[in-house]
Amino acid sequence: MRAVSVSDYREIARRKLPKIFFEYIDGGSYAEATLGRNVADIEAIALRQLVMRDMSVLDMSTTSLGQSFSMPLGISPVGMSGMYGRRGEVQGARAAAKAGIPFSLSTVGVCPVEEVAAAGVPPWFQLYILKDRGYTRALIERAKAAGSPVLFLTVDLPMPGARYRDVRSGFTGATGLGAAIERAWDGISHPAWMWDVWLHGRPHTMGSIAGAIEGRGSVSDVLTWIAKNFDRSVTWADVDWVRQVWDGPIVIKGVLDPEDARQAVKAGAQGVVVSNHGGRQLDGVRSSISALPGIADAVGGDLEVYMDGGVRSGLDVLKAVALGAKACFIGRPWAYALAAGGEAAVARMLETFRAELAVAMTLTGCSTIAQAGRSLLDTDA
Ligand SMILES: Cc1cc2nc3c(=O)[nH]c(=O)nc-3n(C[C@H](O)[C@H](O)[C@H](O)COP(=O)(O)O)c2cc1C
Repeated sequence: MRAVSVSDYREIARRKLPKIFFEYIDGGSYAEATLGRNVADIEAIALRQLVMRDMSVLDMSTTSLGQSFSMPLGISPVGMSGMYGRRGEVQGARAAAKAGIPFSLSTVGVCPVEEVAAAGVPPWFQLYILKDRGYTRALIERAKAAGSPVLFLTVDLPMPGARYRDVRSGFTGATGLGAAIERAWDGISHPAWMWDVWLHGRPHTMGSIAGAIEGRGSVSDVLTWIAKNFDRSVTWADVDWVRQVWDGPIVIKGVLDPEDARQAVKAGAQGVVVSNHGGRQLDGVRSSISALPGIADAVGGDLEVYMDGGVRSGLDVLKAVALGAKACFIGRPWAYALAAGGEAAVARMLETFRAELAVAMTLTGCSTIAQAGRSLLDTDA
């Protein structure tokens, strides 16, 4: 199959990946209501078509936190990406650099921050605050030393939401010989993945935090470790603590309410990502896109507002920007493309987003990103 849309990359990823990894990427928490809403609510927004406006010159470029990017799109942090494609974080970062957009690296990435930075452009670094503040501090210092320009501080995972698909697939909770045999068969029956990732994508540890994880630091140890070591006592005052170690921009990821967005301003953050973790945490909360305008109205003048969750095309990018996002980010789409065809597929998918954004801008009469506002949307549709 020749992949064009995100759903095509998803289908190829479904075939190529061991079931445990596909289900881990694809799923959400509990009944997946929020996951569904993220996509459905963006789909339900209508763009307003306006024609005959001399759209011969289009400028999709934008700036975020002092950096220039070719379009208002970035790559969200996705944990364990090196299990979906060989050294997956490096491949994703290269594709993003080629497209001229930011790549953010998860705390629980397979590739450590130094490896990703050495491969090209230093990534925006996503941080989970760990109970071990000494280790957390060291992690921030490593990101700084690697040249990361921005810190994404993810705040919506004080404990992991239950993802039932991971239990059903045997990714979490399954122990004993039967589970081990099932998992081995899951790998063996996906030979392309075995060759690319299992044999040639080592080491399969959680790169940046491998030293902190008990056991071998392997993927199978990590989920248990997360539940034990992510710090639930974190408050807005901890942003001050982070600031003592990190002097660059801090973006709070996982804000869904204007009240929290205002707290982020007070805490001195430079940005927020309106996000529900792709519907993987508190199921039943509203979609990111529906939370976006209220948050943009509340704090858009004070810091940069980003969003992620449910963005599946360049048309969706324009909808998010029209509703007040400085840029939006994609999680699952790039993970699917990575699994489907590595860096080349991620790069191709990003170019498809760009082409779609061009069409959306052209047919809404919007020639620059700065012009995009709510007037691009058809609210009577
Ligand atoms: C497989 C997977 C792993 C993720 N890991 C992280 C992570 O380590 N840190 C984080 O801040 N967000 C993580 N997220 C959330 C994404 O950064 C992002 O918020 C979400 O995927 C956006 O929704 P979308 O997948 O609909 O684009 C993860 C998402 C997925 C799908």
